Amino acid sequence: MSVIETNALTKTYNGKGGISDVTLSVGEGIIYGFLGPNGSGKSTFVRTLLGLLQPTSGEGYILGEPIGTTKSREQVGYLPELFRYPDWLTGRQLLESHAELCKIPVRQRKKRIEEVVELVGMTGRENGRISGFSKGMSQRIGLACAILNDPKVVFLDEPTSALDPIGRKDVRDLMVYLRDQGKTVFLNSHLLYEVESVCDHVSIVHQGDMVAQGPWRELMVTEAKVEVVTDQPITVPMPAFVTEYQHKNERDRTRMIFQLENESDIPNIIHYLSSHQTPIYEVKPITPHLEDVFLYWVNQKKENMYVDNQ
Ligand SMILES: Nc1ncnc2c1ncn2[C@@H]1O[C@H](COP(=O)(O)OP(=O)(O)OP(=O)(O)O)[C@@H](O)[C@H]1O
Ligand SMILES: [Mg+2]
Repeated sequence: MSVIETNALTKTYNGKGGISDVTLSVGEGIIYGFLGPNGSGKSTFVRTLLGLLQPTSGEGYILGEPIGTTKSREQVGYLPELFRYPDWLTGRQLLESHAELCKIPVRQRKKRIEEVVELVGMTGRENGRISGFSKGMSQRIGLACAILNDPKVVFLDEPTSALDPIGRKDVRDLMVYLRDQGKTVFLNSHLLYEVESVCDHVSIVHQGDMVAQGPWRELMVTEAKVEVVTDQPITVPMPAFVTEYQHKNERDRTRMIFQLENESDIPNIIHYLSSHQTPIYEVKPITPHLEDVFLYWVNQKKENMYVDNQ
């Protein structure tokens, strides 16, 4: 079943900005990455899904309920971007008021608050005033609010923007924990590595348009590159499947970098070199820079638009 579904969902601000024509379907129990640079429409999209903004056109459903309805929000948790909490409250008081809003039965509140405080790594600090919290602590307490009502779907809008590397790792672990509990996590992020490290499925957005979507592995489609270490530069001609070749001599070793038509050419180049008496000391695939993957899809979309417009 689709947990989140949209059909040409569009939200623009007086015809400008926002996000246009997004059609996607998010399955149950996955971490879905909504990836794009600043201003690409990620927050607009999530706020529209949550009914905080009125769509300009198109439609959307959460757990089968049309967006904008109370029912569609019942089993949803949300960590807004750069949210400011009433800072005269303590962390615990914020969670208590949240628990009341979510109608968590009074008898269960204390236990549930303790659980989420632990999940976000704030145990022992929840009784401090929010005004004295660091950015990272505020973000953690925000995460605790987002998961307090044990939602089936959690929307996290840039959940690690204020966190240090340890905090980022904690949030990653929390997302994986939620997924392992069968929850669906919708993650807005402009950080490619963050999306790559946890997301099962990804959409790439750019200037309000979705430029690609699919399993992350399938989006990593730049050509294959491999580094092979030998003891002297090769003199044999390059086979046709090598699209680019560079080498660097380092004392008694030569590092050769082959750009290949595709990944399945990696065994071919090894075979080719060994059949030409080239000793191989090391073979290392070179993973593409994530920025390259992003730019690839942005350019791909532009090219298609150009073709469509002809
Ligand atoms: N309330 C608003 N009124 C007018 N334009 C807006 C409004 N909110 C957002 N926009 C515009 O819509 C576009 C998308 O903004 P949005 O905040 O959704 O992007 P984002 O991907 O979340 O960016 P960031 O990574 O900076 O959070 C931007 O061009 C922005 O200027
Ligand atoms: Mg945003």
